[in-house]
Amino acid sequence: MNWSLSFSLHLLVYWLSSSAVQSHHILGLFVNVHRSQLLVHLAVARVLLQRGHQLTLVTTLPLDDLDEEFKENVTHILVDWQSSPEEKLSSNDFLTRLEHMFRRLEHSGNLLKHSTWKNFMAHTPKPHFDLLLLGYHFNDHLLGVAAHFKCPVVIITTQQPICQVNSLMGNPEERWYVPQPYDSRQRSGLEAWIFGWWEKGIELLSRRILARIYSENFPSPQYPDFDTMRRSVVMSFNNHHMISEGPIQPMLPTMLDIGGILIEQTPKVKSNFEFSSKRPRILFSLGTRFIWRTASRHFIDKFVAAFEHFPDFDIYWTYDGSDSLNLTRVHPHLKLAKWWPQRELLASNLTRIFITHGGKGSITESLYYGKPILGLPLVGDQLVNALKVVEKNWGLSLNIHNCTSFDIIQGIHQLLDNSIYAKTIEKASQLYRDRPQNATQVVSFWLEYTLRHNGAKHLYNPARDLNFWQYYSIDIHLTIYSCLFLLVMALIRLDQVINKKQIC
Ligand SMILES: *[C@@H]1O[C@H](CO)[C@@H](O)[C@H](O)[C@H]1NC(C)=O
Ligand SMILES: *[C@@H]1O[C@H](CO)[C@@H](O)[C@H](O)[C@H]1NC(C)=O
Ligand SMILES: *[C@@H]1O[C@H](CO)[C@@H](O)[C@H](O)[C@H]1NC(C)=O
Ligand SMILES: *[C@@H]1O[C@H](CO)[C@@H](O)[C@H](O)[C@H]1NC(C)=O
Ligand SMILES: *[C@@H]1O[C@H](CO)[C@@H](O)[C@H](O)[C@H]1NC(C)=O
Repeated sequence: MNWSLSFSLHLLVYWLSSSAVQSHHILGLFVNVHRSQLLVHLAVARVLLQRGHQLTLVTTLPLDDLDEEFKENVTHILVDWQSSPEEKLSSNDFLTRLEHMFRRLEHSGNLLKHSTWKNFMAHTPKPHFDLLLLGYHFNDHLLGVAAHFKCPVVIITTQQPICQVNSLMGNPEERWYVPQPYDSRQRSGLEAWIFGWWEKGIELLSRRILARIYSENFPSPQYPDFDTMRRSVVMSFNNHHMISEGPIQPMLPTMLDIGGILIEQTPKVKSNFEFSSKRPRILFSLGTRFIWRTASRHFIDKFVAAFEHFPDFDIYWTYDGSDSLNLTRVHPHLKLAKWWPQRELLASNLTRIFITHGGKGSITESLYYGKPILGLPLVGDQLVNALKVVEKNWGLSLNIHNCTSFDIIQGIHQLLDNSIYAKTIEKASQLYRDRPQNATQVVSFWLEYTLRHNGAKHLYNPARDLNFWQYYSIDIHLTIYSCLFLLVMALIRLDQVINKKQIC
């Protein structure tokens, strides 16, 4: 069905039904994100659907990860748009990477020129939304959509709040003792503090690009200006659990931790797998983005050779493509499939170890079920995650590019034989689950709270009205220290004059 027709129909249905149930119409804007980020956004959307609300979801990826049963209350608008293809960066040069980042940011504004998007924004009559849920990913300019539909806005972030989120909410940024989630060295102290100022500079530069995109698409005086909209964000849901995962830092009451939401809200997939065997298990997955089909024979053999040493274990290996190498025939304890019910396996007390690339989702699942980790990070944040795993004694990490079968065997043995890892992550798991409310409850309570109180303006943080000088009281410090300096200088001068007189 044409989306605009289906959209109008939905509005009609909504209007007819809304008088009966206290159901709201919420706009979810989850564009220009990776699938792993979309999964977090959809988990939040799922909570709202369970509560009987109507959703309009605008995405740039298909909605494969939402259950069919819920789709009756969802209007989906697919904007067939892609961000600029990730050019292979041959240069590791810092300035080139920076320029590349700015170019991508610039390009992200093109989404607003897409015809589907324009139709959606120009739709008459203008649909009524009670709330905008924005999947936040360096897209402050999209806050203009909340201005367009005149509704409050709540953002969803996929990790521990980073500087952009802190400054959006007006949350204090304590670089001295709060390591950042993307920093592979988890810096703190002076070095981190200086790095923080440097990042602040980059942030301000990128914000200028976003402000320009905003004012092109949401011109004043028709719309409030960019800074006004940035200050209007009511809440931020962060896919993180500070209390158990750390680092501990000051957090505004409008910044809510929803770590674990993905585990609580994954669509029920009918699994045809019967796990009747009572043999101990090892789970092995390098994530959905890793293509085994094109991996070298040498690379595959490295793992086969390692797993040969553990014939008493069933090894559940997430392996896309067919078993053309006849691995399972030669080694019956290897179980290959494109997809395993990872959570079901991790939840089982027969599973001993999770060998993983260390994506945020996988680490969270291992933490939730308290299973020791053997990390084989491939890129980006996975390296940071693996580092934290090792630091916290939740497991071990190997360099996937140069480790040998022997390293893998040793790693597995160490995790199996030394109970410290299982014990530590089991304790962490208890901490992770011990909360007054689970993530689902946090989301449903606070979103409905925002709806009940017309955007919950009383939660507004006055720090957002202060500019940089005022926020850090730089003017006051300057005045006080200048006065003190002048006073001291005057006293010294006076002392000199008196001394001179005495000599005379
Ligand atoms: C869809 O929304 C209506 C109205 O709120 C509700 O009665 C119904 O149960 C919802 N459907 C599903 C599958 O949740
Ligand atoms: C969240 O907690 C509530 C209350 O304890 C419980 O009923 C619900 O099943 C929990 N939800 C999930 C997904 O764990
Ligand atoms: C796997 O087994 C099939 C059928 O027995 C055979 O045709 C194929 O050559 C084998 N592949 C390898 C790599 O041994
Ligand atoms: C493992 O779980 C099963 C039920 O799922 C339970 O019966 C069994 O006692 C558990 N074993 C251990 C060692 O905890
Ligand atoms: C792999 O390379 C890293 C540096 O890139 C090095 O620190 C590590 O020792 C190497 N490991 C092995 C097993 O060679």
